[in-house]
Amino acid sequence: MTTAAVSQRTPETAWRPPSPQLMQIRDLVYQVAGIFQPDNKLRQFEDRCQKRMQALGVSSLREYYQCLTVRPSRQTELVSLLNEITVGETFFFRNQPQLDALRNVVLTRIVDARKKMSLRHIRIWSAGCSTGEEPYTLSIMLMEELAGRLQGWTFEIVATDLNERSVAHAKAGLYGNYSTRNLTPETTKKYFSPAGENLQVNAQVKTHVSITRVNFLDDARMVFLKGFDIVMCCNVLIYFDVQSKRRVIQHFYNSLLGHGYLFLGHSESLYGVNDDFRLVHLPSATAYVKAETKVIL
Ligand SMILES: C[S@@+](CC[C@H](N)C(=O)[O-])C[C@H]1O[C@@H](n2cnc3c(N)ncnc32)[C@H](O)[C@@H]1O
Repeated sequence: MTTAAVSQRTPETAWRPPSPQLMQIRDLVYQVAGIFQPDNKLRQFEDRCQKRMQALGVSSLREYYQCLTVRPSRQTELVSLLNEITVGETFFFRNQPQLDALRNVVLTRIVDARKKMSLRHIRIWSAGCSTGEEPYTLSIMLMEELAGRLQGWTFEIVATDLNERSVAHAKAGLYGNYSTRNLTPETTKKYFSPAGENLQVNAQVKTHVSITRVNFLDDARMVFLKGFDIVMCCNVLIYFDVQSKRRVIQHFYNSLLGHGYLFLGHSESLYGVNDDFRLVHLPSATAYVKAETKVIL
């Protein structure tokens, strides 16, 4: 590059070393939520911090770091920053092959295991549920089953997310075109009501779903999430490094029943992360079971 070309760079594109305060904030976010900001995403991360700084009327990253650590309202500000930096991309019936495997294969095995326990009840955890499309998709699928082969059964879906704005959105259950693009006209008619340009999830679908804010790194909360047949944690662990993944996966291991299944997103794997789970190949997707579990494959 010529000297002239270098001098023509705008301040936005010119490289400058990240400030030590930004690095401190990055470490804080990592320690609190397990979310790692790689070097190539630092500019974006700084923009998110700037957005919060503007809202607070704070002019330097140094002062903002203090807001996140020493001021009385630090917990509130940390929650607000996490709301800004988490990626909540999701939509209804996002991964149909995975849902087919769950419905056609895994559910049958869970039903058998539950019958042996003399309990006609199924518990699913949608971990990292974002704005609620995933838990409501599961609720709709299970409601279809209750009307068929699972007559007389009950189920519950525990949905959790770190982002309090997403949790509020999930509780409201109101969705636009982007989220609902995969819904068939039959499903829309049966499980949603029109609300202006949006669709509102029906009360019956909602009654099976409880939604709360939980941080995966909050051990005190995580230990109470127990007794699940299925944990679905899709497209969340991609934002974590290996150490944070290990910690979260250990919680999932403890939260699953012996016959339980763990589903991850299609680009995620436990390879090099955890040996307590074993990969199983289902007809249209993969899942994990506890390594000691004898499942018929
Ligand atoms: C891309 S969305 C995935 C939504 C949904 N599972 C899906 O696959 O469509 C990732 C979600 O993980 C949540 N998340 C990130 N870090 C988290 C943490 N430490 N504890 C709980 N949830 C977290 C984010 O808030 C975000 O809503």
